[in-house]
Amino acid sequence: MKVKVWQVVTLVLGLALTAAGAVLFFQAQAPAHVSPLTPENRDVVRAGQRIYIEHCASCHGAELEGQPNWQARRPDGLLPAPPHDASGHTWHHPSDHLIRLTKYGPQAFAGPDYKSEMPAYEGTLSDAEIVAVLSYIKSTWPPEIRRRHDDLEARAARH
Ligand code: HEC
Repeated sequence: MKVKVWQVVTLVLGLALTAAGAVLFFQAQAPAHVSPLTPENRDVVRAGQRIYIEHCASCHGAELEGQPNWQARRPDGLLPAPPHDASGHTWHHPSDHLIRLTKYGPQAFAGPDYKSEMPAYEGTLSDAEIVAVLSYIKSTWPPEIRRRHDDLEARAARH
C-alpha cells in the first residue's frame, strides 16, 4: 500500500487538532483558584470574630477602624495599627501575604530588625485560626471590596 502525501498531512493535522482540543479541554476543567479565606462560611466567620475580639481588637479596633493617624509613624518610630476595614490597605494584599504577616509578624517582609508592635501569632494561633480571623475580617468588607480582593487573589495565584 502506498501512502500518499495528503494522507500523511491529514493524519498530522488531525493529531495536532486533537492535542490542541485536549489542552483547551483540560484548561477549562482546571479548578479556579480556591482562596483559603471563606468569608461566606458563617461558622468560620463566627469563630474568627471571637479570635479577632480576643487577639486583635485592642490594637486594630473593635470596628476594625485602626488607631488614629495610622499612616504616620509615631515619634518612637513605630507605626500605629492600621484599620482592617475598607479604608485600610489590608484588602490590597492577597491572603497568603496576610496569613504570613499574621503568623510571622511584619518582620517576615521587612526583615528581622524591623520594629513593630504587631505580634507574630505563630505558637499562639493555629493556621486554621489565622485563616478564620482573616475570613472574618474579609466578611466585613463591602461586596465591591470583597470582589476586588477576589480578583487580586486570582491574579496572585497565577504568578
Ligand atoms: C499590639 C498591637 C497589635 C495587635 C494585638 C495586633 N496587631 Fe496587627 N498590626 C499592628 C501594627 C502596629 C501594624 C502595622 C505593622 C507595621 O509596623 O508595619 C499591624 C499590621 C497588621 C497587618 C498588615 C495590614 C496591612 O495593611 O498591611 C495585618 C494583616 C495584621 N496586623 C493582622 C492582625 C491580626 C489578624 C491580629 C490578631 C490576630 C493583629 N493584627 C493583632 C498592631 C497589632
